[in-house]
Amino acid sequence: MVKAPPESKKPLTKKERDERLAAHLPSVLQYHNTMLTDKVRNGLLKKAITRALKPGMSFLDIGAGTGVWAILAAKLGASRVVAIEAEESLIPVIGRLAHENGVAEKIEIIHGRSDDVRIKGRFDVIASEIFDSNAFGKETIASFVDIRKRFLAKGGILIPERFELMAAPISRPDTAASEAAGVGISTSFLSELKLNYSDAITFPAASDLKFLADPVTVISIDFRTVENETYSAEGEAIWKLRNLAKPDGIATFSRSTFLGDITMSALDSQSWSAGLYPFARFEKGSGRLRFKLSADSNSWTVSLPDSPEEKERNYSPVFAFTRLKMAQKMTPHRRFSKRK
Ligand SMILES: C[S@@+](CC[C@H](N)C(=O)[O-])C[C@H]1O[C@@H](n2cnc3c(N)ncnc32)[C@H](O)[C@@H]1O
Repeated sequence: MVKAPPESKKPLTKKERDERLAAHLPSVLQYHNTMLTDKVRNGLLKKAITRALKPGMSFLDIGAGTGVWAILAAKLGASRVVAIEAEESLIPVIGRLAHENGVAEKIEIIHGRSDDVRIKGRFDVIASEIFDSNAFGKETIASFVDIRKRFLAKGGILIPERFELMAAPISRPDTAASEAAGVGISTSFLSELKLNYSDAITFPAASDLKFLADPVTVISIDFRTVENETYSAEGEAIWKLRNLAKPDGIATFSRSTFLGDITMSALDSQSWSAGLYPFARFEKGSGRLRFKLSADSNSWTVSLPDSPEEKERNYSPVFAFTRLKMAQKMTPHRRFSKRK
């Protein structure tokens, strides 16, 4: 998903909170505006909620944002609607939008992280769009497990129910410069460092990605059954390619199953960006390409199972930083501190 505004963990004074709120507000509004103007995402979520929620059922909206799904549920005749949102600046937005839509009396608004919130009773339908940029992170999954165990009624419906990370090899749109353009000066140290950082491709460029093989699932989560103890944000994929010299990156994108057959590819949604994991090209003909990803440690490996002479290539920001520190030691230089 498009990166959410950062959150501070340490307790703040009222003045600090207000300053943070004011500074934060433009990016919060932009973030939620992107989602609210996303026809594909909204259409599919509306379809899922409308299908799941029958009049008289209770509805919990976790990570309510602007409260759009809580408002929809109230309008659909839910017997009880609760909206939980961690971001303080959105609480009055939920209140005003509920009022604008004539359902203010029907929605109970709670400010807090779901993990900390206590509510009486359980809910027939829970919409939980709590993902941000770290959708596959252990913390996000732990929140989902907690939500399912503490808030969902027996036989209740959780939206979304599944989440997958898909991947496919690509030829990168912007290859890192190994030479300063038009200058004829080699810059390969810089481009080698850069290979260790994954990147994001936002909509609409993401929807135009040309895959060199069909996308396959790397990580799959079923929110109805996932458990903290067994979950790991790691996976791998293998493709058979006619020309192994072409790919120099793996594009990843998520696929959400909101309910049953109601599925959304992130490539069709402006709210989500695709990921890009670069690697150095192999000089090979046909064969298999293997990609292993650890979203936990933000590291990835690319190898050619049919060419054992080719060493596995490992990438991680940690490697780039280690190489930088080594180069720093090897670089004779003088250092000045700020003059007092
Ligand atoms: C991707 S937005 C979704 C907003 C809204 N539900 C929608 O679909 O338009 C996720 C929201 O969840 C909130 N959030 C993330 N984790 C949360 C948690 N554990 N408890 C409560 N809110 C959370 C964020 O502050 C953010 O506003």
